Amino acid sequence: MGEGTTKIAAERASQCCIEPACGASYAIDERLYSCPRCGGLLEIVLRPGSQVAPQAWRAWWEARAASCDPRDASGVWRYREVLPFADDAPIVTLGEGNTPLYDAPRSARYCGLRALQLKHQGCNPTGSFKDTGMTAAVTQAVLLGARTVVCASTGNTAASLAAYAARAQLQCAILVPGGQISSAKLAQSMDYGAVVLEMEGNFDDAMRVIREVSEDDSIYLVNSINPFRIEGQKTVAAELLRQCTWRVPDHVVVPGGNMGNSAALGKGFLELFELGVINRLPKLTIVQAEGAAPLAHLFAKLDLKSSAHAPLSNDALVPVEHPETLATAIKIGSPVSWKKSLRAVLATGGQVLSVSEREIADAKAVIGRDGVGCEPASATTVAGIKRLVAARRIEAEESVVAVLTGHLLKDPDYVIHYHRNMLCAPHHSADGSQQERSLNGAFRNPPARLQATKAAILDHLSHAAEEAKADGPKLD
Ligand code: F0G
Repeated sequence: MGEGTTKIAAERASQCCIEPACGASYAIDERLYSCPRCGGLLEIVLRPGSQVAPQAWRAWWEARAASCDPRDASGVWRYREVLPFADDAPIVTLGEGNTPLYDAPRSARYCGLRALQLKHQGCNPTGSFKDTGMTAAVTQAVLLGARTVVCASTGNTAASLAAYAARAQLQCAILVPGGQISSAKLAQSMDYGAVVLEMEGNFDDAMRVIREVSEDDSIYLVNSINPFRIEGQKTVAAELLRQCTWRVPDHVVVPGGNMGNSAALGKGFLELFELGVINRLPKLTIVQAEGAAPLAHLFAKLDLKSSAHAPLSNDALVPVEHPETLATAIKIGSPVSWKKSLRAVLATGGQVLSVSEREIADAKAVIGRDGVGCEPASATTVAGIKRLVAARRIEAEESVVAVLTGHLLKDPDYVIHYHRNMLCAPHHSADGSQQERSLNGAFRNPPARLQATKAAILDHLSHAAEEAKADGPKLD
């Protein structure tokens, strides 16, 4: 890092321990992943230079959206005033961000809402929300002079890191649970030239090992425990609000796995609120898959009146030892950033819940029928919103945004199995035994095999139109 650059960044930001009893602060150019004093998670704290009027922030960011300069065109670096980097930092970018916010009328009706918007983070360069964080983390890796960047992953972090490391010409190693991640994600990492390490065990085991590996000085860890990842991902809050013409939605709903995304969005909204850019907060809600829902279990037990202020002990969250879900991206039993994300949920008045495999699969198919599509983990959002509307914890008239985290093509096997009725989830019987059960999705759309004649095709189309009419009520 150049001396001038270091100085500017150091004046504006520091790395702080999130534990209220510790609160230790470290320089921005220290290679840290947790607090050396107490082991707590670290977060970046920014000191804005001079007082800026809220309208000025918005005007800067709006103006840059029309610019072709890569720093302005990136949906992350456009918001550089709220990032812990100097203006002239050599950024590693693939033009991330700028993802669409779609109206989704069918998904809205399915949930019982008047309207629903889908913020599609799967439209990032490598097909997932990870890119918005990776551009910042790999930029920091370069500034720190790291030679090798590493992560443990259920697939998307790995694919994203592999791409950004390739752009920065850094060695990249990814650690994934063997046989448990989608082949599409694995294919990406291989193509981008990463050293792919498949290991025994699950994501939580991989996470433990990679933290040990990154104690080595030449290696830089970019899982979401890395506070610079969170900084990049938090800019999605600003982009979303800009797309809502700065009218704050009532609810923002995200899937939860390792809890980096929810932590980042929460940080983004809270900082924009503190800067005066928005004058109220959306309620941030996290949805997990039933078989991998440690934070939802904890949330259900919290006394919400007192816990908004009481610090949570490290063992408050009971890890799920054998997490299970077909949404492999969020098959995580011991989420690293749970304290940060729970803090954001409590600060905004949101909630944490879990949904079943069948609910995820059907919600995913409905999102597809809006012409949007996503990967299974993303569909927990729509499934969760449907539950919350039914329970009157979200009202039909409220404005709701679901954040879709990954692209439909990230997990094509899941999609094909759903539509061919071959998607099976583990089922635990009363006697404790476990069997596989078909999910019997409600919106299956399997391909038909026909003779290659005009008559056969026309006949089939007319049958399909009749069936769609009969199916209408289910969807509309
Ligand atoms: N959705 C998708 C598509 C994901 O890939 C992930 C996490 C999540 C949701 C959950 O986000 O961890 O920030 O709470 N994927 C990580 C990975 C764990 O390795 O790709 P989170």
